[in-house]
Amino acid sequence: MKKKVLALALTAAMACSLVACSSNDSNASNTQDSGDSASTTVANKDKPLVWFNRQPSNSSTGELDMNALQFNDNTYYVGFDANQGAELQGTMILDYVKANIDTIDRNGDGIIGYVLAIGDIGHNDSIARTRGVRAALGTAVEANGAINSDPVGSNADGSATAVKDGSLEVNGKTYIVRELASQEMKNSAGATWDAATAGNAIGTWASSFGDQIDIVASNNDGMGMSMFNAWSKSNKVPTFGYDANADAVAAIAEGYGGTISQHADVQAYLTLRVLRNALDGVDIDTGIGTEDDAGNVLSDDVYYYDEAARSYYALNVAVTADNYTDFTDSTKVYAPVSNQLDASAHPEKSVWLNIYNAADNFLSATYQPLLQNYDDLLNLKVEYIGGDGQTEANITNRLSNPSAYDAFAINMVKTDNAASYTALLNQ
Ligand code: BGC
Ligand code: CA
Repeated sequence: MKKKVLALALTAAMACSLVACSSNDSNASNTQDSGDSASTTVANKDKPLVWFNRQPSNSSTGELDMNALQFNDNTYYVGFDANQGAELQGTMILDYVKANIDTIDRNGDGIIGYVLAIGDIGHNDSIARTRGVRAALGTAVEANGAINSDPVGSNADGSATAVKDGSLEVNGKTYIVRELASQEMKNSAGATWDAATAGNAIGTWASSFGDQIDIVASNNDGMGMSMFNAWSKSNKVPTFGYDANADAVAAIAEGYGGTISQHADVQAYLTLRVLRNALDGVDIDTGIGTEDDAGNVLSDDVYYYDEAARSYYALNVAVTADNYTDFTDSTKVYAPVSNQLDASAHPEKSVWLNIYNAADNFLSATYQPLLQNYDDLLNLKVEYIGGDGQTEANITNRLSNPSAYDAFAINMVKTDNAASYTALLNQ
């Protein structure tokens, strides 16, 4: 039954990509009631759709939401390899500790203490990073076959059950590694990955733990920089984040410990490129694994495609004092995919795109500027909608006329909520 429905959808999508989608049907434009007119009469449910940054999935179990990922034949997800990145993040911190072992233990009690800012306990990326840090530092505890990623709150004496004390031997001396504290950085209105909350938390942590804190770890740079500016910079405590936002990369010169580039330059390209390809009715690999007519192509050291999950994942790179000067401009397009498409072969199409939280440091300071650079190169006219990071309705309310667009790019507030969007396209 399900197969049949899929097959029908496939036929419809193919017909669309052969005829309607690729022709600039002027009658169709006349029927649009908005200035941003879609160039075809394709049903909204058959239009290309890309989820990005927040993968449709169960926020408790992490299980992928395949209904959302296979909404139609032209549906994809674009993100990055969360596990590979998390492992890099953990290793980056561990390497720093080992290289600086003579000075790292600030109060000399033989315990290397760290605090951890968690972004969103229901977000796969955040969960992976918490696990990566704990795995590398030896503080991980297994729960149901995976590393426990729960926040510990306060763990001054090492008795928390979600983590354990790690043990690290360097130069013949054994140290204890302790997660002194961790919490989800969620503000009272419900926004997660909240930088201001992290800035407040470090104040609280510093007053209870003082020089027991030797390392500050964060699930992202937005929170990491907030803690660095509020406390760790002046106290010379190495702070590690994730995302390689420009301000964080620059702060490495001032003692920020390091960050991870999730190759946002590749992700932003892929986000719009899959839509472009679907709208052009060409093979989805065009300009991705296969060079396009303008010479754009990605090599497999920066991304991979998981066909079963309909997901493209960029690969991560550690950014530390050794290499940060190569990463100072976080909004620069990736050179191998920076060639302008010819507008006669790839006519302008309109895209509706939302950022789940306009105040998110990574999405607003790194990802969106990159998207804005690529939209011109790909001849896509993109309408950018910034959400409040709290409710899906704040965003979906602004998709009142999906017929006015040729394609959609969606960044959900909560990874469980794909249906809030697909319901609008099914109407
Ligand atoms: C980024 C975070 C960001 C989150 C938003 C993550 O991939 O690393 O900085 O807050 O996405 O969903
Ligand atoms: Ca210590």
